[in-house]
Amino acid sequence: MATQLFAAALAKQPALHNAFIELRGDLGVGKTTFARHLLRAIGVLGRIKSPTYAVVEPYELPDLNVWHFDFYRFSEPREWEDAGFRDIFASPGLKLAEWPEKAAGFIPRADLIIQLEALSDESRQVSLSAQTTVGLALLQALNPDRSNAPNQQREGHP
Ligand SMILES: Nc1ncnc2c1ncn2[C@@H]1O[C@H](COP(=O)(O)OP(=O)(O)O)[C@@H](O)[C@H]1O
Ligand SMILES: [Mg+2]
Repeated sequence: MATQLFAAALAKQPALHNAFIELRGDLGVGKTTFARHLLRAIGVLGRIKSPTYAVVEPYELPDLNVWHFDFYRFSEPREWEDAGFRDIFASPGLKLAEWPEKAAGFIPRADLIIQLEALSDESRQVSLSAQTTVGLALLQALNPDRSNAPNQQREGHP
């Protein structure tokens, strides 16, 4: 399943409406690209910026609030309170986070971890792991015949 199709399948899950998803993987592996596919599939119109500089880009959809984080530049713990990140994580909606490792100790436990790895220039491996019942619902909806064992999918681009 191509990355974009996987994002579209994930976008259809009702559990996504209140979920925190971590996007893990090396620089340039495709985390922002995946987030763009997902945001597009849930109805975000217009330009979808990488949140690398702003740390967070918010989106308001008619029935859903979404926040796309990139914690790569997160370094100042005070920012957690001052920028309202605590409030965001306490609010209902979809939160996506690139580089969650950089905000370890601040961010809550993710519902789902999406780990991307490059197999070659053109293909990516996606591994999913659920850490909560919400994450399990997402994972099982995407893989109805599988248990909650870590799941891996190989994909070509796009
Ligand atoms: N699934 C994919 N397969 C192959 N190349 C990809 C894939 N996703 C993204 N890329 C390419 O990798 C580059 C970096 O992607 P980006 O999403 O910015 O990475 P990250 O956010 O992980 O640093 C982009 O030029 C993009 O075209
Ligand atoms: Mg990125």
